[in-house]
Amino acid sequence: MVAGTAAPYLLALRLDGRRVLVAGGGAVATRRVPGLLDAGADVLVVSPEISASLHDLVQAGRIRWESRESAPGDCAGAWLVCACTDDPAVNAAVAQEAEAARIWSVRADDAAASAAWTPASGQAGDVRFGVVSGDPLRSAGIRDEVLDGLQAGRMRARRRRRPGGRVALVGGGPGDPGLITVRGRQLLAEADVVVADRLAPRSLLDELAPDVELVDAAKIPRGRAMAQEQINSVLVDRAQRGLFVVRLKGGDPFVFGRGGEEILACLEAGIPVTVVPGVTSAIAVPAAAGIPLTHRGITQEFRVVSAHIPPGDERSTVDWSELGASQATLVLLMALENLEPITRTLLRYGRDSRTPVSVIVDGTLPTQHIITTELATVADEVSAAGLRPPAIVVIGEVVNVGAQIAELSRKAPRQAQSVVVPPSPGPAGVVPTCEGQ
Ligand SMILES: C[S@@+](CC[C@H](N)C(=O)[O-])C[C@H]1O[C@@H](n2cnc3c(N)ncnc32)[C@H](O)[C@@H]1O
Repeated sequence: MVAGTAAPYLLALRLDGRRVLVAGGGAVATRRVPGLLDAGADVLVVSPEISASLHDLVQAGRIRWESRESAPGDCAGAWLVCACTDDPAVNAAVAQEAEAARIWSVRADDAAASAAWTPASGQAGDVRFGVVSGDPLRSAGIRDEVLDGLQAGRMRARRRRRPGGRVALVGGGPGDPGLITVRGRQLLAEADVVVADRLAPRSLLDELAPDVELVDAAKIPRGRAMAQEQINSVLVDRAQRGLFVVRLKGGDPFVFGRGGEEILACLEAGIPVTVVPGVTSAIAVPAAAGIPLTHRGITQEFRVVSAHIPPGDERSTVDWSELGASQATLVLLMALENLEPITRTLLRYGRDSRTPVSVIVDGTLPTQHIITTELATVADEVSAAGLRPPAIVVIGEVVNVGAQIAELSRKAPRQAQSVVVPPSPGPAGVVPTCEGQ
């Protein structure tokens, strides 16, 4: 049988369409099978019973299951065998049959007797790696460190062998660097060129290697339309030079972010594009300020509206009369300049003048501050306070729920305070807040 003290030889198996026998249907099999499926393996599970997760996979037609004890002949046709029943004698018999047939097998219960070992493996983007140390917990710890480094962009992961120029439109979240997605952060660490918006999480730009070209899209001169054309042409130009370009945007690329225009420009130029969704400020900024956009018994809907064009303007596609009549929570982006005509229109079409409103400026950033007041007076108060974008305006009774959360949070022991919250509705005040306070 297998023995020996030599170090194992590491190999990456390409299992597409190849049979893998999994003997056993318990916890170990449940952990192993998803990885085998990710590698494209044709998985056959043999076990009298299987876990609920494996059962789901059977029902989805992703694995096959023979509900019985393991028996001689099971290894026939397999390229790899995982012996992971809870009976060592059964595992030994399965492994022995595999050995006789020169099929690699992994014994979950006895590493010393196992022909092959499953490394502690990790994946960050298209990088896969495995760690084997003879001590599974140590291997998992090292794996976690490497994974963390790759995901946080601390480990250099830039490609040396370039697959050709391409662009990733990455949603950077609302501003706090912790609110970008793991995938977004990984791609940022791989970029040759980063084209960054003003509202992207700019503190992440400090982490870029010195040779990464940083194009500050906020500084591209002349009117918006021209600036957008210039951004498109920078993306296309750098990708055509064979570089990997990350277009780092605030929030989500496709929520009032012109991501659609950028992807079209790249595709028209034959440049492959990846889209990495982001946490949109429309939802994240109210949430981080402690305002739930929906609340049972209050409202079952919220509307996200770009308010950069005022009501009544012929370019507007927003039905303000319908928004005035509805009970939905309204989340307005780019609204500060037009707050007076907007509130006037909403009142005209039926919103109560006492509807609570929160205006959250610089949401999720250390400079975050909030005004909470009522619909009738919010425009004047915003103007008097001299608030500047970026801001999210939340209109609806849920603002009162936010106030309730604020109140309870203030009373809670300090360690239990988990959200940043606005003051109670009533006389407006500008309240500086900071996540974690
Ligand atoms: C051009 S839109 C981009 C929206 C972005 N794509 C998203 O999904 O969040 C810019 C507007 O988003 C809102 N915004 C973005 N980040 C914000 C933040 N940190 N705090 C408050 N509002 C923000 C403001 O209304 C700002 O004027």
